[in-house]
Amino acid sequence: MADTLDSLLEEARQAIAVAGSTRDLAAVQARFLGAKGSLQAQLRSIGTLPREERPAFGARINAAKEELAALLERRREELEAAEIQARLAEEAIDVTLPGRPLPSGRLHPLTQTVLRVKEVLSGLGYEFVDGPELEDYAYNFAALNYPEDHPAFDEMMTFYVDDTRLLRTQTTALQGRVMALRRPPFKIATTGRCFRYEAVDATHHHTFHQVDVFMVDEGISMADLKGTLRQFASAMFGGDVQVRFRPDFFPFVEPGVDYSIYWEDRWLELGGAGLIHPNILEAHRIDSERWTGFAFGLGIERIHMIQYGVNDLRLYLENDLRFLRQF
Ligand code: FA5
Repeated sequence: MADTLDSLLEEARQAIAVAGSTRDLAAVQARFLGAKGSLQAQLRSIGTLPREERPAFGARINAAKEELAALLERRREELEAAEIQARLAEEAIDVTLPGRPLPSGRLHPLTQTVLRVKEVLSGLGYEFVDGPELEDYAYNFAALNYPEDHPAFDEMMTFYVDDTRLLRTQTTALQGRVMALRRPPFKIATTGRCFRYEAVDATHHHTFHQVDVFMVDEGISMADLKGTLRQFASAMFGGDVQVRFRPDFFPFVEPGVDYSIYWEDRWLELGGAGLIHPNILEAHRIDSERWTGFAFGLGIERIHMIQYGVNDLRLYLENDLRFLRQF
C-alpha cells in the first residue's frame, strides 16, 4: 500500500508538471485530490491496515495531500499567467494601423434647404410656428377667403379624411390659426409638408413642402413685401439675383403676385405673394384701416431644384441613396 501511495504521488507530480492549461490542471486536481480522487480512496483503505501502522500511513497521506496542493497552486499560477499573456497577445490592438472610417449619415436635401430657409427668415426677425398636416377645411380654405365653389379650389384638390378635415394643401393654412390667437404686430413663418391630389410629374407631386411667411403691422405696403423677397432671394441664391413680380390671383391676398428669380438665363417661379386681404384681417377683428400685412408662400423642392439643377422633383421622395448622397 505504501508503494501504491508513492507511485500515486509520483504519478500526480508528473500530471501536474505536464498539465498544459488551467482546465487540464483542474482535471488533475479532481483526479488525485477530489472527493472521489485516488488519495481519498487510499484514506478509505486505511481500515485494512494493522492498527499500529494506521497513524503513520495517515500522516503520509496528509503530507502527500499538502505537497500536491502546493504543487497545484504553483502550477496554476504559471498557467494562469501564460494564459493571460496569450490572450493579451491575441487581442492586441495595433495602434499604428490607420482607423476604419465610420460612414456618416447626412441630412436629407430638403431638410438642408428647410434649415437654410429658417436661418435666413429667423435672421429677418420671423418667428417659426408649426401647423398640423391634417388640417381643418376651415383653416385651409374658408378662413383664407375662398368663396364656396370658387374655381381656385380646382388647383387645390386634396385628400379629405372626412367632411371637415383634409391634408393641408398649403402652409398658408396656419394664418387663421395664428390670427385667432394673436394681435398685431406679428411676423410669423412656417414650413412643412403639403399634399395635393395631382397628376404626378417632374414638377408636381402629391406630397411636397412649402414655406409660408406672413406679417401684420402698421403701414405695411407692397414695398415691404418686395424688399423682403429680394432680401430672401439674395440670401438664398446669392447677392445679385434678380427678382420679378407679376400680378396673380390668390383669394387671400390683394393685390396678389407671383414671384420669380432670374437664374441661368431664365425666369423661374418660386411661389406666390401679396398683401393680406382685408377680409381676412376683419374676420379676425383686426382693423384693416390701421393694420396691413403681407404674405408669401414658396415651394421648398423648387428652391433646392433651382440651386442644384435637379430636374425631377420625384427624386426627393424616392430615397435613392445615389441621389441623396450628392448633397
Ligand atoms: C400657394 O400654395 C399659396 N399658398 C402661396 C401664397 C402664400 C400666395 C401666401 C400668396 C400669399 P401655389 O399653389 O402657387 O400657391 O404654390 C406655391 C408653390 O408651392 C409653387 O410655386 C410650387 O413651388 C409649390 N407647389 C405647389 N404645388 C406643388 C406640387 N404639387 N408639387 C410640388 N410643389 C408644389
